[in-house]
Amino acid sequence: MSTYTEDNRKVTTHRLIEMKQRGEKISMLTAYDYSMASIIDQAGMDVILVGDSASNVMVGNITTLPMTLDQMIYHGRSVMNAVKRALVVVDMPFGTVSGDPLRSLEAAIRVMKETGADALKIEGGEEVLPDIKKIIDAGIPVMGHLGLMPQSINKYGTYNVRAKDTSEAAKLIKDALLLEEVGCCGIVLEKIPAELTKQVTDQLSIPIIGIGAGAHADGQVLVMHDMLGINKDFSPKFLRRYADLYTVMIEAVQNYIKDVKSTDFPNEKESY
Ligand code: KIV
Repeated sequence: MSTYTEDNRKVTTHRLIEMKQRGEKISMLTAYDYSMASIIDQAGMDVILVGDSASNVMVGNITTLPMTLDQMIYHGRSVMNAVKRALVVVDMPFGTVSGDPLRSLEAAIRVMKETGADALKIEGGEEVLPDIKKIIDAGIPVMGHLGLMPQSINKYGTYNVRAKDTSEAAKLIKDALLLEEVGCCGIVLEKIPAELTKQVTDQLSIPIIGIGAGAHADGQVLVMHDMLGINKDFSPKFLRRYADLYTVMIEAVQNYIKDVKSTDFPNEKESY
């Protein structure tokens, strides 16, 4: 396996805490299928998130809300079939963790049993704390998710930066402390001011992973389709594109069409 890092040991939640302690930044990227997860793992990614952003980038839905538990399990299993080194975290989809701890635990156990994933990610703070506690008490690592929570889009009305005012910032800090206290293995902070990320990162001993949350977090996460430039139309300020796969793929597919039409493909060497 050719990885960016020499350390080929399996990444664990415990190792993420060690990385925070020694100031080593944590890399995290989404994946939803076997082939892409295999490439991302071989490149040396620390954490692979099977995000419910699959709803947007794999299915074409406008929001993450339609994603079902069965669909997340399908994507989680596909990723797990590929990954050898990265810690794999699967998102609990909308409606599966919403104030009924026993029901939430049942859903969490299904994901763990049927995907073989290492951990789950759950959006929300105090409101879903009893659910998160029940799941962690059953031995399942949970990563929290605060700030912009896409599953709450119908409550917010926009995907704008969250926690800009002092009361929302204070609630976010309180929620982060509660998530740490209940035993979360890390927290994703999405689209909040960089200074607030710094406060949370400095106060907590569990790893903070940011997306659109500035440079102070212990690690960064992006959606794979966005950073590889497969999504041409999504350009938020926080996104850095590392490739232009849209153009590469359009050109490759157009060249194939041209070769088929002109009978250049297949040639003799490509025939039996
Ligand atoms: O679903 C997802 O991809 C996520 C990231 C944006 C953090 O939750």
